[in-house]
This record gives sequence, C-alpha cells and structure tokens, in this order.
Amino acid sequence: MSKNTPINFDVVKSKIESLNIPDLSKATIREIVKVVDMIQAETGDKYIRMEMGVPGLPPEKIGTEAEIAALKAGVANNYPSIEGIPELKNETARFIKNFMNIDISPEGCVATTGSMQGGYASFQAVSSMDKKKDTALFIDPGFPIQKQQFKVIGAKFQSFDAYDYRGEKLRDKLEEFLSKGNINSIIFSNPNNPSWICLTDEELKIIGELANKYDVIVIEDLAYFGMDFRQDFSTPGQPPFQPSVANYTDNWIMLISSSKVFSYAGQRMAVMAISDKLYNRSYPDLQERFGADKFGYAIVYRLLYSLSSGASHSGQHALAAMFKAASDGKFNFVEPVKEYGERAKIMKKLFTKYGFEIVYNKDLDQDLADGFYFTIAYPGMNGGELIENLLYYGISAISLRGAGSTHVDGLRACVSQIQRSQFDDLEYRLKRFHEDFPN
Ligand SMILES: Cc1ncc(COP(=O)(O)O)c(C=O)c1O
Repeated sequence: MSKNTPINFDVVKSKIESLNIPDLSKATIREIVKVVDMIQAETGDKYIRMEMGVPGLPPEKIGTEAEIAALKAGVANNYPSIEGIPELKNETARFIKNFMNIDISPEGCVATTGSMQGGYASFQAVSSMDKKKDTALFIDPGFPIQKQQFKVIGAKFQSFDAYDYRGEKLRDKLEEFLSKGNINSIIFSNPNNPSWICLTDEELKIIGELANKYDVIVIEDLAYFGMDFRQDFSTPGQPPFQPSVANYTDNWIMLISSSKVFSYAGQRMAVMAISDKLYNRSYPDLQERFGADKFGYAIVYRLLYSLSSGASHSGQHALAAMFKAASDGKFNFVEPVKEYGERAKIMKKLFTKYGFEIVYNKDLDQDLADGFYFTIAYPGMNGGELIENLLYYGISAISLRGAGSTHVDGLRACVSQIQRSQFDDLEYRLKRFHEDFPN
C-alpha cells in the first residue's frame, strides 16, 4: 500500500526494488548514489545526500593557479621524476616539520596519485617485506576500499573495531594480535573515516611503543589532516601540532592527501612520507620479490614505477604551492574546511532532536569533534531498514557494516554535500520520520 512520505513512496519503492539488494546495509556507496540519482531524476526532489565523502567546497585557488601556471609553462609534455618533483618533496618535508613538528628528509616525501595509490603501494610493500609477517592489521572502522586493495593484492589482513578498545585498553587488544608474530603493519586514519574518532596522543603513543616492540610499520592515513577542529593546528611552527604516531616510533609511513584538506580530489594528488629510518632500511625479502632491498627504493622504483610511473606533473606543482603557502603563513589551510565542522554541529543536533543516536560519540572523556563525518543509529531499527526508511524521507547515507564496525545498525553521514539552505528541509524530513517511527 502506498504511504504518504515526503518523497513519492511508489517511486522510492520501485527504485529500491530495481537495485535488487534485499538488505541495503550491504549496498555499496555507488549503489546508494545510483538509487538516489534515479529517484531525484524522476521526482525532481532534492535529497539530503550524505552517502559520499566528496569535497563540498571549491578547490583551493593557490593550487589551481599554480597548476595552470605549470601547464602554461609546458610541464604536460614531461614525465615528472617518479619520486616527485623537488619542489614538492622539499615543501612536504617543510609542511610536516611546520604542522607536525616531525623531521623528515625530502627524499622520503614521495608524490602519489592520490592517497589511494600511496596506500596501495604501502600495502604491497609491507605485505612483501618479511615472509614471516604476512598479515596487516586495521584499527577499524575504516575506509572499505583499502581492504579491497588488500584483496586485489592478494595479501592478508585482520581488523578490530576500536569502539570498545580506547585508551589503555588499546594496548592489550593490539598485543593480542601482535604477539602472534605474523603482523607486518598497523593501519588507521586519524581523524577517522567513517566515525570521526580521533586517536589521542596517549593512544598514538601505545601504537608507537608496540610498533617498536614488535617491529611493525604504522601506516597513518592523514586524509583529514588538521581537521580535528577542537584544536587549531593551522599556525606553522607553533603547537598544537597534528598528532602523530611519528612522535613515538621511527617505523612509520604517513599518507597526506590533497583531496579533502585542499578540496583537490579531482587532481588525484597526494604524498606518502616514509620515515628516514624506514626509507633506508634493508629487507632481504624485498630484494627477493622486487630486486631491491631498501624499503623506500623498492616503493618508488619498483612499485610506483609499475603502478603509474609517477603522479601528475601539474598536480605536484599545485600541492607544492599549497604546502608552501601554508608553511609561509600566507594560507590558513584549516579555515575553509572548518565549514564542515559547523555543518556537522547543526546536523548532529537535528538528528538527536528527532530520536537518533550518535554511534561513535566520545574520544575517551572528550566529546567527539564535529567534522566531515558523523555516525547515526535509530533505536529499534537495523542498518538496512534505516537506510531504506530514510530514503522515503529524502535522506541518504551508507552503512557502517562495510567499514568493519561492530555497530552494524549504524550509518555514516557525510556533511560535505549538504548546504546550509537545506537545513530546513532536513529538519522537516527528520520530524516526519520521527512522527512515523516514534521511539
Ligand atoms: C581515510 C581515507 N584515506 C584515503 C582516502 C583517499 O584519498 P585520495 O583521494 O587522496 O586518494 C580517503 C578518501 O575519502 C579517505 O577517507
């Protein structure tokens, strides 16, 4: 029977049915995108689209201008060096010093085609460096595509949800895995996609100490660099600094993406930074597999060479210019993206006003930061039902299931595409939802 819902019930129902996925908590982001696109096209109604983690701000002008200048200067006909152009390598080392207070030589700062590629190459390297250590460990929830990368590589991984293991409890949980001797790396994002938890310094210290004890590599994914807005990380050379495991171990790789911080996702530009010690460390098993024993050399001249022979030449000029302007104190890179935190604060209030709960809501004793993502659940509804029911009310989000969360009733909400002009619509739809599904 047809019901009175904010978006035409019959259209929504038929489009969901056309997907042929009985449990929408198992749908991929792209499947949700597809169903919402179809409903919007047929009804003309605009959704509150929270399913995709894409930038919702214009690209940083310092980047586009530097990139245009580089193109006009003719760089497009020229292969950049595989490890990255010197300007980018130097400015990355400077940026890391200025905003993290970590020393690294430019050699270890390597250009990649998005952090997707930096991740792929790192995962391949850590999975090949020691035959006795054949398994990576994710601190979840996490970015599902990274697990897909492991599957493509054909390498093993394990994971656990950090939800119940915050603070000192993290040590025992990590030791449970590490003490078996087969773990090669620990992978996490900070701030975290999808939950927006931010590991504290105490937790990063635990990870660093255990990385030393068990000789594993930490892959710290900083796709949301500086975006824990509870603190201001934007002044070069001044604390507070973006927290990092690099303060506690030399076994680290950082992935720093331009996509979200500089709204530069389209140009697929990022850097991976490998600690000096790890860059120059020799692994006989890498020699056997790739014909190069040094970790950094194998990543650059075996893996990145095979994957794409480097990253976009003009994109590298863009990222170098943005890092430089930030380090010179001429560009406050945190200021523009603070908008996401403001949106999240308002949206979280609306969701909780109408009966929703925030799933990941604490960093130990501190309230979670407001940022690019937040997580929601509706008591009494499982994840698949919640995604489906919300679609009738013009709201779209994805399940936490694919992210390795044990909270499979929860959804990830991304604020980036929601304009402030949509907040009235959001409130109206949530109110109707709460009236129709009282809890
Ligand atoms: C945690 C995390 N890592 C990596 C990426 C990918 O970054 P890039 O666009 O630089 O490939 C994303 C993008 O959403 C992300 O959320």
